[in-house]
Amino acid sequence: MSFVSVKELEDKLQVETYAKMNLLIERGQGAYVWTNEGERYLDLYGGHAVCATGHCHPHVVASLKAQLNKLIFYSNIVYSEVRAKAAEKLVSVAPKSLKKVFFCNSGAEANENAMKMARLVTGRKKIVSFSGSFHGRTADAISATFLGNYRKLAEPNVPFHVCAEFGSVESVKKTADEETAAIIIEPIQSMAGVREAEPEFFVFLRRFCDEKGILLIFDEIQTGMGRTGNWFFAGSPLSGFVEPDILTLAKSLGSGVPVGACLVNERVAKSIKRNDLGTTFGGGMLAVAAVIATIEAIEIDGMLEKIVKAEKYLREKIKQVPEVKDVFGKGGILAIEFYEDAAGFYEKLLKNKIITGTSANPFRLRLLPPLCIGKEEIDLLIEALKR
Ligand SMILES: Cc1ncc(COP(=O)(O)O)c(C=O)c1O
Repeated sequence: MSFVSVKELEDKLQVETYAKMNLLIERGQGAYVWTNEGERYLDLYGGHAVCATGHCHPHVVASLKAQLNKLIFYSNIVYSEVRAKAAEKLVSVAPKSLKKVFFCNSGAEANENAMKMARLVTGRKKIVSFSGSFHGRTADAISATFLGNYRKLAEPNVPFHVCAEFGSVESVKKTADEETAAIIIEPIQSMAGVREAEPEFFVFLRRFCDEKGILLIFDEIQTGMGRTGNWFFAGSPLSGFVEPDILTLAKSLGSGVPVGACLVNERVAKSIKRNDLGTTFGGGMLAVAAVIATIEAIEIDGMLEKIVKAEKYLREKIKQVPEVKDVFGKGGILAIEFYEDAAGFYEKLLKNKIITGTSANPFRLRLLPPLCIGKEEIDLLIEALKR
């Protein structure tokens, strides 16, 4: 089908959601995707922060094909070897206190269940999240979202959600108390424009939560699975080695196969009883096969090291572009800040066959590339920016 006829059909039959790029993407490999007309695009947006292993990584494709030939799905009411091994593999790379996993289907579902668990464990209702936060579009997750007008769109919101200033110790002290079930935080606020906090802030949050009996939730839906050059933000130098009580994952977890997860520590796990949580599709065979294959692909290709090198190279090379004011973020979650509006750069890069992402900060363009990018891809970006 031609671009025009596909566009016509989608626009006619799909409820309008995102502003779409005028691209008809047909296939992908590594950091690149191709249109129906065979034009190659460099995907520095990683299929919406999802394809950390790159598009159609051969190991992921082979693992999924093998699983498809065996069994596509059975729910959690039966045992499954591939599910057991996926949990084992995920826990083996997770921060050491997070020893159990609840598989679900998306980021919003992971955050819903994380907040539900926090209320069940503590017997409290209040949830504290942060200015600039984005946690998903379902009822509880959107009520914890203080970026833009998302919350307003879902009124009436779930009660007992309050907002503290991102990165401010004083604001947390004023907002959270002995009635708070959880503090939920995106360790790097991606949609807000890749906003960061100091490691000392996370060290403070951990100590404060322990003092007040509050559970700490890290939403690592974007920062998890190696994106920062560490398996997770939690337990890394970026967080001052702090580990939360619950860590939520989705996006890169299945290399594009929809899958989410909550990793929890012993305190949380032992308070959750049978029937407290549930989901039909969570932990399905195809999804968990994707989890194993994703972790293995990152390991086989040394992607954690690769993305750290790529970030270093990008920061050096970008000095050649006078329009760039600064670069924010870590590893493969970066924002380029321009002196002028970033929207024009987004459009021009697209014309130069490079896909990037916008953000809520009009001066910042986001890069959430596959973790396999190297000099070649960064040179393409720099040359295009110079043009
Ligand atoms: C930090 C963060 N949390 C939660 C979500 C929601 O994930 P999903 O769209 O899979 O529900 C997103 C999605 O962009 C996200 O970036």
